[in-house]
Amino acid sequence: MPTAPSAAPDVVLVVDFGAQYAQLIARRVREARVYSEIVPSTMPVAEMLAKNPKAIILSGGPSSVYEEGAPQLDRAIFEAGVPVFGMCYGFQLMATTLGGTVDNTGAREYGRTPLTVSKQGSTLFEGTPEHQSVWMSHGDACSAAPEGFTVTASTNVVPVAAFENDEKRLYGVQYHPEVMHSTHGQQILEHFLYRGAGLAPSWTTGSIVEEQIAAIREQVGDKRAICGLSGGVDSAVAAALVQKAIGSQLTCVYVDHGLMRKGETEQVEKDFVAATGVQLKVVDAQERFLDALKGVSDPEEKRKIIGREFIRVFEQAQAEIITEAPDETPVEFLVQGTLYPDIVESGGGTGTANIKSHHNVGGLPEDLEFQLVEPLRQLFKDEVRMVGQELGLPDEIVQRQPFPGPGLGIRIVGEVTKDRLDLLREADAIAREELTAAGLDREIWQCPVVLLADVRSVGVQGDGRTYGHPIVLRPVSSEDAMTADWTRMPYEVLARISTRITNEVKDVNRVVLDCTSKPPGTIEWE
Ligand code: XMP
Repeated sequence: MPTAPSAAPDVVLVVDFGAQYAQLIARRVREARVYSEIVPSTMPVAEMLAKNPKAIILSGGPSSVYEEGAPQLDRAIFEAGVPVFGMCYGFQLMATTLGGTVDNTGAREYGRTPLTVSKQGSTLFEGTPEHQSVWMSHGDACSAAPEGFTVTASTNVVPVAAFENDEKRLYGVQYHPEVMHSTHGQQILEHFLYRGAGLAPSWTTGSIVEEQIAAIREQVGDKRAICGLSGGVDSAVAAALVQKAIGSQLTCVYVDHGLMRKGETEQVEKDFVAATGVQLKVVDAQERFLDALKGVSDPEEKRKIIGREFIRVFEQAQAEIITEAPDETPVEFLVQGTLYPDIVESGGGTGTANIKSHHNVGGLPEDLEFQLVEPLRQLFKDEVRMVGQELGLPDEIVQRQPFPGPGLGIRIVGEVTKDRLDLLREADAIAREELTAAGLDREIWQCPVVLLADVRSVGVQGDGRTYGHPIVLRPVSSEDAMTADWTRMPYEVLARISTRITNEVKDVNRVVLDCTSKPPGTIEWE
């Protein structure tokens, strides 16, 4: 019997005033087991309140409150009886809107700063030390709190570095509690959520699964759905969730586009099916993708082509599934493992610039014939892994490092050909084998292996001159792929990978390390 949809989770809105802080705040709120969503600061307050938020957080941002055109907020937000926590820019906006004073003192504070808690036992600072280190980034400073507010902390530069009005449930800090460098940041955020707003840490993996299953059943009804499996964590977890919700109404389609890594097809065909019991249809589309990619070197064009061909193959698979099982129930839904950061990075979240067309968001053709089921739309990667574990998927699938939908197609700089793919597959398999052997899989978020197919360099191997291609190793450490740093991995491991690749992979005579963070580089090269 289908279960009734459970109540929607309590939501905390994070109002985004620009910069990248809102994402991080949303993650931190979820780490406190409370569901959060990001909304742009341009959203009318009435619309925000219509979402029935249980609390609102105002993020930091790059502007100064007095700058012309600086984002503002209707004071109604502070008068709706909803608890509000302002951070940095959000704090200053709260101060000026409610009658406090913010001066452009000329004294800037950036980076790690000592903070003195002046009121012990306050709602936010309860149980935290009198002296703590916080992360500042501001030019303006609050010199007088609005009426009815108590000043709770200060720094050498800022007399009012935190304030609160418990009666109205309004709180603010001049710094960024969401970044790691603020030593008690998470505790302060949790104090706001649990003590200030009275929320309970109830958004657990079990509740996410339950909510999503109910939502999928409601959306799909008795119709049928297909799901593209890519071999990656996201599509596997999305498929397992939908399988749990609608069982045999789901057919998974695995498109072997020839852009997969070594062993990936087998992993999907055997391990995933064994773990979930899902119905799987494998489509061999290698030639089709290679034909479509012939002569194309431009990354965005490749992404668009791969996204388009994917959908076309699905449409074909849909037709076949209907013919093979003609029970008159149409396939109306397409399941996708789109994550929250995909949506935000593709410009769909807060109006951020479009950085890349992720093939499962921006690259969809306009004449799409399916309705989308995206059960991971609200989740960050680590949450997806927890959901996968909850659903009983094996570690080899759940703990896999991320791999992009367009596969090796966007890891060959230059035209994609069968020979180049084979070459890159070999190099990638060696790198993965050595990283696993060195126990680095968890430390490294992912390590794209990239073939610079349009670049050649001179080398010497055996007793002859070579003129081969470089392979780039791009090991990165990250929390959610929004930002990343290159992983300082041991030289010995790098040396082993380099020696093996140049010895074992034909036409490669150089291995180079990409030591760029994100930003400015993205993780993938294309
Ligand atoms: P970038 O290169 O934008 O990558 O720093 C961020 C993360 O996203 C993955 N990625 C993709 N995943 N479809 C996907 O499903 C895509 O088109 C795509 N492009 C990049 C990338 O591997 C990294 O984890």
